[in-house]
This record gives sequence, structure tokens and C-alpha cells, in this order.
Amino acid sequence: MTEGKQHVQRVFSGVQPTGNLHLGNYLGAVRNFVRLQDDYECVYCIVDLHAITVRQEPETLRRSIRELAAAYLACGVDPQRSAIFNQSQVSQHAELGWVLNCIARMGWLNRMTQFKEKAGKDREKASVGLYDYPVLQAADILAYRATHVPIGEDQKQHIELCRDIAAKFNNDYEVEDFFPLPEPLIQSAAARVMSLRDGSKKMSKSDPSDASRINLTDDADQIAKKIRKAKTDPEPLPDTVEGLEERPEARNLVGIYAALNDQSVEAVVTEFAGKQFGTFKPALADLAVAKLGPIAEEMQRHLADLSHIDEILAKGAERAEAIAEPVVREVYDVMGLLRTR
Ligand code: AMP
Ligand code: TRP
Repeated sequence: MTEGKQHVQRVFSGVQPTGNLHLGNYLGAVRNFVRLQDDYECVYCIVDLHAITVRQEPETLRRSIRELAAAYLACGVDPQRSAIFNQSQVSQHAELGWVLNCIARMGWLNRMTQFKEKAGKDREKASVGLYDYPVLQAADILAYRATHVPIGEDQKQHIELCRDIAAKFNNDYEVEDFFPLPEPLIQSAAARVMSLRDGSKKMSKSDPSDASRINLTDDADQIAKKIRKAKTDPEPLPDTVEGLEERPEARNLVGIYAALNDQSVEAVVTEFAGKQFGTFKPALADLAVAKLGPIAEEMQRHLADLSHIDEILAKGAERAEAIAEPVVREVYDVMGLLRTR
């Protein structure tokens, strides 16, 4: 919690436009974006400047930005209530990003596990942007003085870094509570949806195997087939949650069922205790098709009208800029950067 000065309760989150949204993105993040609209002012970004930290094909990137906007809309993000826009249209992200580069410390960035994973063995060849990625992410959040950030488990470290950057700015410039320290909002049931092919890896857009993930654009046959072929073990389902502990694939499928059906893992375990995967998998496939089918249809409907999507992004960017511009002005002022216009 932030002490002292009360900040407006505001939600900010972002997703990279780097391919189809999958079930992990949906259950771990976007579904919460939708729910939070009831209680908060929300700003939902398509983080295209983050996407270019690795090479993107220009045409593919442009298409992916609009597809992600369509996915947000199809999942229920409401442009009347929330600002939906792509990051590069609001220059304050990049501006504040530079300022925060001068606040964040090398030692802090050196600890970021996502950079280590994404850069792989040849770190010398990674772009400077990939290394700096979490600082731009902090700028995204702080430009809106956001107080809450819905994300999957893998982003927790980046939010902690954002808090450290905010606290250091407040402290160095003796402006107590200038930036709120944002809280991560992590949905426990689906904080980390795992690959369908390997229960030790998270479901990811970048996994070369399409069978490892359920895309929001998959049709009913594809969903059913991927679940049928999902890796499992030979045992029937246990009758307690503890019984899932050493069974990552079983735990993942039960977790997905629980999250999709808005149930607790306990309730699902009780319902399917002692059942074989031959029974559980078709039930899961039916549930997934029932929940995701309408989203895929809505997405196609939105994608049939690109000018409508572009209009939403333009309006969203205007709304976002109206919040972020005065914040960046204040930051410049606090730091002594002279403005004469
Ligand atoms: P990304 O696709 O990396 O831009 O992620 C967008 C959002 O989805 C972030 O909040 C991630 O934490 C979340 N996310 C990505 N993969 C998963 C997963 N396998 N399980 C749960 N959440 C995820
Ligand atoms: N780094 C996040 C991801 O890979 C995307 C992101 C960028 C983000 N800026 C953000 C998420 C700000 C939350 C808040 O998923």
C-alpha cells in the first residue's frame, strides 16, 4: 500500500503484440483486465515498443497490433470504459523511459530473470532494448501513476523493479509519494499456465510447438485435439489437491479446468476424483470450447472492420496521453529540466 498522499486507484497492464494470445495470457492476465473494469479506471496497452526489442517484420507487427486490439475487445475489454491503445502512439512512455533509465541501477537490471532467459547464451548479441525492457515497463506503469497491475506470475519481478524505481525517484528528489508503489495483481488459479507438452515449461507464444498451447483463435477441433494429445501420466486423478503435487501435467490441466469454470482446484478434484484422463480430457475440451469459441468468433468479427479498431486505438491513445502528459511534465519539472513552452 502507498502511505500518505492518496493516489487515484488506477489499473495499468500491457501485452506484447508478438503473435496470438494463448490460454495462459487469457487466464493469467486478460480475463482479469475485464473484471477490473468494474472497480477501477483502467488503461490497457499494446506494448509495441517492447515487441521491437527483438526483430519484428514490419507488416507482421502492424497486423499483430490490430489482432491484439481485437483480442482485447473480444475478451470483453470495453473501450467505453477503458483506454485501449498501442504504446508507440503515446510518446510519454518513451520519454519517461529515458528518465527512469537514469534512476534504475545496472545491478538491479542484472538480476532480471526474463532477460537472462530471452537473451540466452549469447548475451553480447542481445539488443540494449531487451536489457532495458523492464525500465520501459516501469515507465508504462508510472506514467499513469497506476496503483494496480494485473499480470501473470512471470512478470512479478518486473513489478518489483518498478516499485524500486518509483521509490528511488521519490527518495532522490525528496518528493514523497510522487509515484505510488504499484501492486501486482496475480490470479492464483492460473498465474502460471504450463505447456500442454511439458508440465515444467510455461505456455508461451514463442514455443515452437503449436500443440503446446491453446490459441484464442483455435477452432473447436484444434482445441479438442490439443487437449486429447496433452501430456499426462498414467494414474487416475487424485482425490486431494496434495495428490497433484508431484504431477505437473495433471495439476496444469486441473488448474485450467478450475480457472475456466471459475471453480476452486479443490472442487474440480472432488468432482473428478479417481477418474481417468479418458474421462477428464473430453470434459475439459468441452469446457474450453464453450468458453473460448465465442471469443474467437468475436475476434473475427472485429477483425473484419480494421478502421473501427484503428479508431478505438486513436481514441484510447488520446485518453492515455491526457493522463500521462501532465505526469511527465511534473517529472521534468521536479528534475529541473527547463520547459519554456
Ligand atoms: P506476454 O505474452 O509475455 O506479453 O504476456 C502477457 C501477459 O500474460 C503477462 O501478464 C504475462 O504474465 C501473462 N502470461 C504469459 N504467459 C502466461 C502463462 N503461461 N500463464 C499465465 N500468465 C501468462
Ligand atoms: N512485460 C510484459 C509481458 O511480457 C508486458 C508489459 C509491458 C507490461 N509493460 C507492462 C505488463 C506494464 C504490465 C504493466 O507480459
